[in-house]
Amino acid sequence: MSRHRPFAEMASIGVAVPPGVLTNADLTRMLDTSDDWIVERTGIRERHIARPEQSVAMLSQEASEKALKRAGLVAGDLDAIILATATPDRLLPSTACDLQALLGAGKAAAFDISAACPGFLFATTVAEGLIASGQSENVLVIGAEKLSTITDFQDRSTAILFGDGAGAAIIRRASGNNGRGILSTFLKSDGKLAPLLYRPGGGAADPISEKVVCARSHYMKMAGREVFKAAVLAMAEACDEALERAGVTAEEVDLLIPHQANVRIIEATAKHAGMPMNKVMVNVDRYGNTSSASIPLALDQAITEGRVQPGSLLLLVAFGAGFTWGSAVVRW
Ligand code: ACO
Repeated sequence: MSRHRPFAEMASIGVAVPPGVLTNADLTRMLDTSDDWIVERTGIRERHIARPEQSVAMLSQEASEKALKRAGLVAGDLDAIILATATPDRLLPSTACDLQALLGAGKAAAFDISAACPGFLFATTVAEGLIASGQSENVLVIGAEKLSTITDFQDRSTAILFGDGAGAAIIRRASGNNGRGILSTFLKSDGKLAPLLYRPGGGAADPISEKVVCARSHYMKMAGREVFKAAVLAMAEACDEALERAGVTAEEVDLLIPHQANVRIIEATAKHAGMPMNKVMVNVDRYGNTSSASIPLALDQAITEGRVQPGSLLLLVAFGAGFTWGSAVVRW
């Protein structure tokens, strides 16, 4: 039993994946790497890459229209649009405002959230708060990325990891009579660790310039081994917190849907939570790390495959740059 009646429920999911595929074999022609190394260290086999003209707002629109349709809503029903991304189309205005215009969501307030990979969970938590405070009934939450635009394809330690995609969810006031809803959320950050995974240049501190571009400092830099260790610890804490706050045990969870960064991090998270791998969603092999789009992409696939049914208890957990981490327990 959850401790409180849920304020909000996740009513539907929709996703968009660009058709272009970059395989490990493709990467071996660009970099000193191998399919064996990538699969063994990360579990990734391929990732999708958006075309230059395919914006984050456009990917988000495709995902959002599917989510709206599945929830039986139209864009005009939305009170708020919260878009989590590390790769906004422009720095001003927000990509959420571009999405609002594309959808024609006339009455919605729209804004972006910058929380890296757990961005979808941060946005979901804000949506839940808007609903709990009575400000909103229907909120569109999106995690959408074109990480290919901030990935250095000359750096083999990061180029193999990331992909593009978008996932959207409708978060609406819980109907209350079916047990469905967001039973808990947990969010945390540690900004002292920012230099372990960041983009040094291209922002207000070091605006885009010839110097920035020549130094390639507008691309992501990552200390992989340190990030790996921190991710394992943080994902474990996030699992424990969300379960505790929801008042449920790992045994009651039907499916763990972790951020898809690296299959070894996923396995360590499942082990900590005491969940067998047959109760864990893994699709990092097909998409790589799509940051904020990762959890909705995995959830959508789990629904399509029949692994999530009405009443299923889900544990969502993610970790990323900042560092930021978070989790949620959701009754589908
Ligand atoms: N192909 C072949 N060799 C490589 C490659 C590659 N693509 N990349 C690195 N190597 C080499 C290194 O140079 C190093 O060689 P050396 O021993 O001669 O110095 C060796 O492989 C081992 O490198 P490590 O970095 O120690 O390898 P590790 O086992 O840690 O795997 C990896 C690297 C996959 C990046 C891992 O550290 C990882 O997944 N870290 C977490 C990354 C992550 O999850 N980031 C995202 C979280 S936040 C977010 O999602 C935005």
